[in-house]
Amino acid sequence: MTVIVTGGAGFIGSNFIFYMLKKHPDYRIVCLDKLTYAGNLSTLKSVMDNPNFRFVKLDICDRAGVYALFEEEKPDMVVNFAAESHVDRSIEDPGVFLQTNVIGTGVMLDAARKYGVKRYHQVSTDEVYGDLPLDRPDLFFTEETPIHTSSPYSSSKAGADLLVMAYYRTFGLPVTISRCSNNYGPYHFPEKLIPLMIANCLNDKPLPVYGEGLNVRDWLYVEDHCKAIDLILHKGRVGEVYNVGGHNEMKNIDIVKLICHELGKSEDLITHVTDRKGHDMRYAIDPTKIHNELGWLPETTFKDGIKKTIKWYLENRDWWEEIISGEYQNYYDKMYSNR
Ligand code: NAD
Ligand code: DAU
Repeated sequence: MTVIVTGGAGFIGSNFIFYMLKKHPDYRIVCLDKLTYAGNLSTLKSVMDNPNFRFVKLDICDRAGVYALFEEEKPDMVVNFAAESHVDRSIEDPGVFLQTNVIGTGVMLDAARKYGVKRYHQVSTDEVYGDLPLDRPDLFFTEETPIHTSSPYSSSKAGADLLVMAYYRTFGLPVTISRCSNNYGPYHFPEKLIPLMIANCLNDKPLPVYGEGLNVRDWLYVEDHCKAIDLILHKGRVGEVYNVGGHNEMKNIDIVKLICHELGKSEDLITHVTDRKGHDMRYAIDPTKIHNELGWLPETTFKDGIKKTIKWYLENRDWWEEIISGEYQNYYDKMYSNR
């Protein structure tokens, strides 16, 4: 079984590669990644010498390059993680989001169709459903919730999902889609809430909470997401969407306070800054379908997962310090100074 994994040098894709190589030692995993600012080859160093693993630096928008890789590898399955993934960057510069997330997905679908892959899996997001109000804790996103996006990022991911479903209906391509809530864990790029707050705390820098910090996200440990994708790939029904989430809703401000507490830092580091434009209030996944159909349940509680994550950032300072010392500083200054 050969599986092409796009975006495998990023946060979730790399964790998925580690998971798959361990779970299916007889599978060949081919990682295709452009190595944008978010992709990091050092993340994959533990698997580089694994004979069942191959890394290829490639843009999913490069049709000729993608077709050549499919011709050579003849993949059985494709898992498309590759994307521009940060909402704040999509507000600054939407163009690259349309290019990679929509056009790139189109190229991957064409390649999957041309080379007859047995399963194409699209890694989507709960953000395609928009947001839920804070005063209706009874509401959750189901697979039937209408697409109703807020940011250029979520709109580009929704566009990709629609294209995936069109390839199923029109061409009979055997597709599945997963829509997961917020992930956290090792190798999470430090522009995102949890790793940003851990890194800033450890460096005694201000902790920039958007607005009042009352927005709610539904956090899932990354390995639980990887397990869900593996299950969907092997047992999910083609043409279906599966929501993935562990009923773990938390306010941003509570997460930041918890990180301060775990690291023994003062909450005085918290600084409230101008809110994100179009900021979604609450995400909350109803995972009934994946539970009932595939038996998936999250295994890591937030209490354990956040401790493991903080420990990982403490033990892997080289990984994130290298990232935040380079080009990232310009990004950080642009996004946060005078905010
Ligand atoms: P990430 O930003 O950490 O990694 C993205 C990876 O894609 C990087 O390695 C990057 O180099 C690569 N990439 C970007 N553009 C590319 C291109 N044109 N061609 C090839 N490679 C390219 O992202 P992540 O947080 O790991 O998210 C992975 C996927 O999961 C995305 O599709 C995202 O929408 C989805 N998702 C993320 C979350 C989350 O909480 N992080 C939750 C649900 C869904
Ligand atoms: O829900 C799934 C989505 O989760 C994925 O599709 C996205 O790829 C992923 O980036 C994530 O999106 P969010 O916008 O929810 O994640 P982020 O870490 O950027 O922000 C989480 C919350 O924290 C959000 O309400 C904004 C807030 N925030 C974020 C940052 C970076 C802050 O208050 N301060 C910050 O500095």
